[in-house]
Amino acid sequence: MGSAPANLTTDVAAAVTVLRNGGLVAFPTETVYGLGADALEPRAVARIFAVKGRPADHPLIVHGPDPSILDRFGHEVASVARRVAEACWPGPLTVLVRRAACVPDVVTGGRDTVGLRVPAHPVALDLLGRFDGGVAAPSANRFGRVSPTTATHVVADLDGDVDLVLDGGPCAVGVESTILDCTGHEPEVVRLGGVPVEELTELLGAPPKLWRGGSPARAPGMLASHYAPRARVELCDDPAMLVTRAAVLVDEGRVVGALAPHALDGLPADVVELEPAGGPQDYARVVYDRLRQADRLGLEVLVVVPPPDEGLGRAVRDRLTRAATPPTPHPRSKL
Ligand code: TXA
Ligand code: MG
Repeated sequence: MGSAPANLTTDVAAAVTVLRNGGLVAFPTETVYGLGADALEPRAVARIFAVKGRPADHPLIVHGPDPSILDRFGHEVASVARRVAEACWPGPLTVLVRRAACVPDVVTGGRDTVGLRVPAHPVALDLLGRFDGGVAAPSANRFGRVSPTTATHVVADLDGDVDLVLDGGPCAVGVESTILDCTGHEPEVVRLGGVPVEELTELLGAPPKLWRGGSPARAPGMLASHYAPRARVELCDDPAMLVTRAAVLVDEGRVVGALAPHALDGLPADVVELEPAGGPQDYARVVYDRLRQADRLGLEVLVVVPPPDEGLGRAVRDRLTRAATPPTPHPRSKL
């Protein structure tokens, strides 16, 4: 713990040993890096909460190597959960099912449901297959901050607080898994993510219900202020208006950066233009790195043109909205 440098490695066998000994391993998935512990070892799982600074009532997803986890960690699993899991796994989908008795309270925050997922990353699958158990893992960032999509991000965030960081390169999807609650009357998306809603609609034969907020207990962790960099984030769909806004902020003396799918015309010279994020898929892959870059550059405000509201773009817009501070309706002039 503390200031010791993180143990960065590609040695999967070493990571398995750490897990078996009740330690913490940060590992790559196709979405974001996870901070993993043996899901059946309550003391190891409790350490995840301590390291992240995460409230105890925010449940963790249990990761496994194949769909057999549905029966190992789930109970009376609904057929719809099996169907979507078979279709999407390995892949960026988490299903919420009723939990089996073996799943400790510390994993689910005392709930009678558990999130299960088989990630599509060769290193993760190798780790989970060799460990041959469930690995409870949230994203490997401090609570409320931007999720890590490279091993370097993990080291920057958690440093010596994690026993081993498995390096599997940059994450291919870049935003967290879609969470589908399969415990109710009809399947409901409680977090937008790597499997687009359009794909679920095709699989289910009808659009899934979308959770629109309301009860905070519904999906703890889906807080308005999540995924936030230190820089203030402002969103604007219209590039021309965004350029105007950037100019106003520069006039106010702010250190300003801009992020958009494509290069922006007419941006004032003082504005730091981050490398364009591209179409929805590319945008998802790079969005967290760009938010981190804003902090590394010491930006005070990052003005952002989000991707279109379709496919993976929906999940990206969701994250950017949470990262954004609501605009002040009547900004006070600087006197
Ligand atoms: O892509 C991902 O899902 C990544 C990688 C590492 O797999 N994991 C991830 O975990 O994003 P985390 O802990 O950062 O976010 C999990 C979300 C939280 O909002 C949590 O409240 C919700 O899933 N969740 C997990 N189990 C739940 C349950 N039983 N009921 C309701 N929400 C649950
Ligand atoms: Mg997270």
